[in-house]
Amino acid sequence: MKFFVDTAEVDDIRELQETGLLDGVTTNPSLIAKSGRDFKQVIAEICEIVDGPVSAEVAATDVDGMIAEGEHLAKIATNVVIKIPLTPAGLKACKHFTNKGIKTNVTLCFSANQALLAAKVGATYISPFVGRLDDINLNGMDLIADIRAIYDNYDFDTQILVASIRSINQVTESALIGADVATIPPAIIHKMYNHPLTAKGLEAFVKDWASTGQTIL
Ligand code: G3P
Repeated sequence: MKFFVDTAEVDDIRELQETGLLDGVTTNPSLIAKSGRDFKQVIAEICEIVDGPVSAEVAATDVDGMIAEGEHLAKIATNVVIKIPLTPAGLKACKHFTNKGIKTNVTLCFSANQALLAAKVGATYISPFVGRLDDINLNGMDLIADIRAIYDNYDFDTQILVASIRSINQVTESALIGADVATIPPAIIHKMYNHPLTAKGLEAFVKDWASTGQTIL
């Protein structure tokens, strides 16, 4: 499973890039607003830090506007992926980019039927928002399982990019289901390292090694 980080904070991305774990980055208008920085400048900087796909979302909601903005964003760097909301206009724009070989990430997906539509217009990635489904007492991971089954039934190329991740359990479940990508907030990635038994075991190893009085070098 590929790990993308879900943020527009360049410092967090740079720190995670050094772990060797990062396969890409996703941003959206809310994350860009939170960064307080110029959108196109941030995307250019992120594309310099990470070789993998970097999702940059259009702001327009009409087909022509999405196409114009998407083509402009695609010029920023070769690893820019155009993020498009899952609407009738968005899927028409997605089809345009598919036909031009420009990679797309269709976002704000909340149902299996929406994911099926996105695959049929050739979306490179589909972003189902699992956390927001959980927020309204539905089960986001059930949607991921349904999309996985549907995509496998018809051998769709669209990659399932699990988004709106709020817990490390959702990362585990995404991997168990066979999602292609998880886009994870920095804080959740850092939580994945930790286990109390690892910390406890290492503390004991360090203490017992010290008691030998030996050195390795
Ligand atoms: O990539 C989508 C993600 O940023 C949305 O997360 O927590 O706002 O639902 P959230």
